[in-house]
Amino acid sequence: MKMPSSSSTAAKAIWDKLAKLDRKSLAELFAGDERRVEAMSQRLEFDLGEAGPMGLLLDWSKTHLGDAELSAFEELADVMGFGSARDALFGGGIVNPTEGRPATHGAMRGSGTEADCEEADQLLQRMGMLVTAIHEGAFGEVKHLIHIGIGGSALGPDLAVDALTRDLKLVDVHVVSNIDGLALEQAFAACNPETTMIAVASKTFTTTETMTNAASALKWLADNKVDDPSGRVVALTANPEKAVEWGVDETRILPFPESVGGRYSLWSSIGFPLALAVGMEDFTAFLAGAQAMDTHFREAEGRANGPLLAAVGDLYYSRIRGCQTRAVFAYDERLGLLPDYLQQLEMESNGKSVTVSGEPVDAPTAAITWGGVGTDAQHAVFQLLHQGTHLIPVDFIGSIAPGDELDPAHHKALLSNCFAQGAALMAGGNMSADGKDPARGFAGDRPSATILVDDLDAATLGALIAFHEHRVFAGAVLMGINPFDQFGVELGKKMAKEVESGEGDFDASTKALMEAAGLG
Ligand code: F6P
Repeated sequence: MKMPSSSSTAAKAIWDKLAKLDRKSLAELFAGDERRVEAMSQRLEFDLGEAGPMGLLLDWSKTHLGDAELSAFEELADVMGFGSARDALFGGGIVNPTEGRPATHGAMRGSGTEADCEEADQLLQRMGMLVTAIHEGAFGEVKHLIHIGIGGSALGPDLAVDALTRDLKLVDVHVVSNIDGLALEQAFAACNPETTMIAVASKTFTTTETMTNAASALKWLADNKVDDPSGRVVALTANPEKAVEWGVDETRILPFPESVGGRYSLWSSIGFPLALAVGMEDFTAFLAGAQAMDTHFREAEGRANGPLLAAVGDLYYSRIRGCQTRAVFAYDERLGLLPDYLQQLEMESNGKSVTVSGEPVDAPTAAITWGGVGTDAQHAVFQLLHQGTHLIPVDFIGSIAPGDELDPAHHKALLSNCFAQGAALMAGGNMSADGKDPARGFAGDRPSATILVDDLDAATLGALIAFHEHRVFAGAVLMGINPFDQFGVELGKKMAKEVESGEGDFDASTKALMEAAGLG
């Protein structure tokens, strides 16, 4: 894969050019181009066959990206080898050079090499057989699944199950990640051990939190006199040998390839709880939606490429306008866990300080992702967005079709608020009678983007998540960093073990804390 470092002379010259461009306000950008909305937004429509049609609107018109910025970024994409990096991603190239691996999450939904897609299809069928067997009673009555995993082995399943099981769930899923025993106790309290299965989700099958929780869950089944507790455990892992060693029978191990990264693994057997909760038909639609977004990402060029354009906006604000954070507000209860999911996807992928060639980066990398749910957030944090001193680009995400069946007034108000926030951030103004009270003034010219889906079904959720995966990848290519490793989590893991065992050389503050808690 051709991935030059961001400090290459050609790239540096483009960044310099971007920094020197005239900064037009949003009002000026709209005034200067009556076709700005058409130019900066696009509707994507897909026919997914059995999964039906799917549509979404991406509106980046309320950002400060003008024609000059977009042209410069298109030049940067060329210089940074975006096209060949994208080919390498889907072609099984080594896009994760520090670990010497490809990144084959795309193949899990049919976007990859023939061999990778074939393997993925076999794994999917294997998962489908187990899901069907459980639904058909091969394990007795199964009402609950306690899904144990952490990070990428939990955030995706948690988001997807929460988003897609509001109307109907075939099995009640509880995702437990934290090693804090309270998390597991809460799941135990909501489940009947007689009718509960346990999924242990861990790419490595060595993660302390997951293995500790898994052992406690097994003990809970045994303490409650459930027949053959380990016969009720399913392992979702890229390390089947470890799962066998731990005591899971091979027939209940659903493997996935090592080349699928943890935070990109929802499409693999890590998606088992979703498949169990919504059924294989919807899970297949979820994959189809993601694959449709892959196709768009692979085929669209320059500013017509939705995820690339979103990445360009992210980089423009973090590197040119100095924004340290970006906010995401879902105007849909079903996407309440999306900001948490995106935090890991974006911050663990692109929170890096060195380029692919190991040189220090010369500009900021991923912004801090944060957010919440509208309209709740309007009554909590939007004050700062409108009147605070930080410039924070915001993404709004909503669905045209409502998720509820109450009076349509609810949904009308929800979407009206969503659109009004973007408009208000941009317009600014003064709310005082004479228009002069500084405390009631709004500077305006604050950027936002809006993603509006036709309906939040399984396919659309798949497309939405794939959109963000590609946004992260495109951003990484343009910055010259590797989005697929995560060595930044290792030092803390090692030191946690040292603190726990008391064997290590600790600073005075840590020693005092350990003493106060009776550790070590
Ligand atoms: O500690 C970070 C991390 O490695 C994540 O990247 C990953 O999603 C999570 O831990 C869980 O890892 P595993 O699936 O191997 O248990």
